[in-house]
Amino acid sequence: MTKELDALLKEKRIFNPSDDVVNNSNIKKWMDKREINTYEELLERARDQNWFWGEMAKELEWFRPWGDVLEWNLPHAKWFLGGKFNIVHNALDRHMKTSRKNKVAYIWEGECGEVKKITYLSLFQEVNKFANALKSLGIKKGDKVSIYLPMIPELPIAMLACAKIGAIHSVVFSGFSAKAFRQRVDDAEAKVAVTVDGFYRRGKAIPLKENADEALRGASSVKHLIVVKRAGNDIEMKEGRDVYWHELMEGQSATCETEIMDSEDMLFILYTSGTTGKPKGVVHVHGGYAVGTHATLRYVFDLKDDDVWWCAADAGWVTGHSYIVYAPLMLGVTSVMYEGGPNYPKPDRVWDMIDRHGVTVFYTAPTVIRMFMKYGDEWPKKHNLSSLRLLGSVGEPINPEAWIWYYKKIGKERCPIMDTWWQTETGGFILTPLPITPLKPGSVTRPFPSLEADVLNDDGESITGSGGYLVLKKPWPSMLRTLYKEPERYVKQYWSTFPGVYLTGDVARKDENGYFWLQGRSDDVLNVAGHRIGSAEVESALVSHPSVAEAAVVGKPDPIKGEVIQALVILKSDVKPSSELKGELRNHVGKEIGHIAKPSVIGFVKDLPKTRSGKIMRRVIKAKVKGEPVGDISTLANPEAVAGLDEMV
Ligand code: PRX
Repeated sequence: MTKELDALLKEKRIFNPSDDVVNNSNIKKWMDKREINTYEELLERARDQNWFWGEMAKELEWFRPWGDVLEWNLPHAKWFLGGKFNIVHNALDRHMKTSRKNKVAYIWEGECGEVKKITYLSLFQEVNKFANALKSLGIKKGDKVSIYLPMIPELPIAMLACAKIGAIHSVVFSGFSAKAFRQRVDDAEAKVAVTVDGFYRRGKAIPLKENADEALRGASSVKHLIVVKRAGNDIEMKEGRDVYWHELMEGQSATCETEIMDSEDMLFILYTSGTTGKPKGVVHVHGGYAVGTHATLRYVFDLKDDDVWWCAADAGWVTGHSYIVYAPLMLGVTSVMYEGGPNYPKPDRVWDMIDRHGVTVFYTAPTVIRMFMKYGDEWPKKHNLSSLRLLGSVGEPINPEAWIWYYKKIGKERCPIMDTWWQTETGGFILTPLPITPLKPGSVTRPFPSLEADVLNDDGESITGSGGYLVLKKPWPSMLRTLYKEPERYVKQYWSTFPGVYLTGDVARKDENGYFWLQGRSDDVLNVAGHRIGSAEVESALVSHPSVAEAAVVGKPDPIKGEVIQALVILKSDVKPSSELKGELRNHVGKEIGHIAKPSVIGFVKDLPKTRSGKIMRRVIKAKVKGEPVGDISTLANPEAVAGLDEMV
């Protein structure tokens, strides 16, 4: 680390956004109209959540206005009751009446360098055509469509087309395996699936259709598979089931009626990892999700008509759903959408793209920032980054060192960093600065206006200054409504540990100014490079291999990725340990879940520490992996197993 950085890290300076940033911000203008003078006053006034969210909802177009803003039967919320709405009317249709019609919605860049500019009008037409195409396959309101696509324009088009006609999309990240896709298709009982022949990643064409074929073998709910032609690799089209996207689109009308939905009608299901082997189907709805994501993007990232916004996530995750697809389109801004690897073909790909496309607001994950930091300052220096005015971070805690580097070397000390904490379940930002918030490097600052968070100890008491369970104390419009087909799990998972509050599953500390500092997960969910992976999922993938008797998986701290996966495996008695077997097990997990879940380190052990009831004590393994004291092991049935871990971690 340079001396300069070292000095910066030691200082406890608060970074105040400049007067220029503050005075031109959307939030300041909003406050001025309501005679609210300070950030503190804003938070105070917004405690009246019905008033605050009612104001926010008025910024969108409704077919019929809502009655009550909120009905809260803990833990079930309904927002904007009786309102008639469709998120796609707001994301596309309404722009057809304004000058945004011919504005660029997406600047899409393929990994090989080709650039397509898609206007709001042409996006509107493509969405209408695909909506009609879905209808021609029998899809109607309430039907589920599984989308297994990479970062190509057809991904948002397919999502928007579903929402337009009231169908429910379930997008599965293209990095997930065939098996993971199948599990999600079955759970959603999708009638139609959408995939691609192949796409580019690090110069290679990834043949996704092969995965889709393997996944859909015997999947009884799926009647049609729509295939986008992208990489041109050889594929087999299954007679009677498969149809090319471009053929299906031929002759479809470019107009399509938007379905009038109830504000509480389901918009999408997005599966996320939990503490069991079975992913959770998080359910979001049209009205509240739209209001929440629109408001947070508008007032946190301060987007205006002349901005070029780049949320460098994948639309297969919630970050992309909310902040590549729905919110930016509702705001009518121009977004960059990129197909490939951020450091491909060279470590300056991202900086080059910011320069070429004039990106003004850039949002990425700490793991990416740390990777760029390691490459060195010469890469961003090659490019003109002066178009940038705000920066953002999401997905995992950002260490102050990376925060300072991002602030100095990318933002040139002009651009405030919005470190946004949220989850698939929350739909939109929860703990986040606004462009008027004084910043502390490494802190997500405070809750978005009207929201309330706290840190509790084991006894459920609010604590300041030390780590505890991060909870949310009030409902919010973009909150998940339930877990698909698992309403009891919704209640148990989020609302049962401490009465009346939402358990986030994260550990955080609240400081004397009410600023929050995230410390990681409190449950057995791992966060690898900003992606959520359940330990139990990886463990069950490992034990499904014929050589494995038992497995335990924990996170191991990593300077770039935040955490990598460490697996400890007990082999069946007749199996010999070898490094080839480690490779085989890694690939096996890749096939079962996806490459993101492959353990970085595998250790073969004879025994794993267990309680007397036979439960693996992950706490002890975690401590070993982190090199921390193992604490009390008196409840272990086999304390001798602890010493055996030493050489493996
Ligand atoms: O642990 C927190 C971490 O990511 C989890 C949510 O993961 P997922 O649902 O996949 O959504 C990721 C993108 C919103 C959280 O429980 N997390 C997210 N943002 C932050 C974070 N941890 C620290 N700081 C953040 N800004």
